[in-house]
Amino acid sequence: MRVLFIAGNWKMNPAKGEEAIALANAVKTGVGQAIDVRVAICPPFPWLGVVDDALSGSPIGLGAQNMNAKADGAYTGETSGAMLVDIGCTHVILGHSERRHGLGETNEQVNQKLLTALGVGLIPIVCIGETRQEREADQTESVIGHQLNGSLAGVTPEQMGGVVLAYEPVWAIGTGLTASPAQAQAVHAFIRGKLVTLFGGATAARVIVQYGGSVKADNALELLACPDIDGALVGGASLKPADFLGIIQAGQTVTATGKPAS
Ligand code: PGA
Repeated sequence: MRVLFIAGNWKMNPAKGEEAIALANAVKTGVGQAIDVRVAICPPFPWLGVVDDALSGSPIGLGAQNMNAKADGAYTGETSGAMLVDIGCTHVILGHSERRHGLGETNEQVNQKLLTALGVGLIPIVCIGETRQEREADQTESVIGHQLNGSLAGVTPEQMGGVVLAYEPVWAIGTGLTASPAQAQAVHAFIRGKLVTLFGGATAARVIVQYGGSVKADNALELLACPDIDGALVGGASLKPADFLGIIQAGQTVTATGKPAS
């Protein structure tokens, strides 16, 4: 059975290190030790060190929000995977739509970063998702299929078992519009089927596929109860400890009660 995985993407927040420490401490205290869901938080680069210190002794994973595909060298302003590992990261978000659409990141670049991340032992959280126009043009599956083919090229089935995917419809990110559980489940089922084709059934059954896009404490339960939704990548609500902890609690409830049979 796949263990639900709730990750917080803090994006370019908070402005001060002391606020980052306070947020990490609040999540750490709320989560405690006895968690039966996986949890990670992904602060901006400057706060990774202080948040890693704050999370000491906690089972919460630490993730970065991006990395360079190159191992090292003259790349001004960039951060390597090895640096992330050294500062305490266990995870890295790759190909977030704000990078794909805001900064022109391509499937090929995401793929290079993914292969590098796997090489240094980071758990990648690879984001995919369609825009509103693509959904309205009935292109959701072709867009997601193309993103999966391109972003996951060259990954072995064994490696893929440890890769996390995040389905984040672009139109639902930061908008307050959430995909309905039925809409999200339909795309997650498509992703699972595509993983079967690319990597085989045993691997596809292991891959965690998170949903992201305006996940809140009050909609998490019905999303996480869907058979192919294995967690959440949470933006805005991850900056408010009570809200983020509420989403983790929803994950614990689903874990305790089991998902309805699909
Ligand atoms: P949101 O962001 O929860 O604020 O919609 C999700 C994300 O971008 O990962």
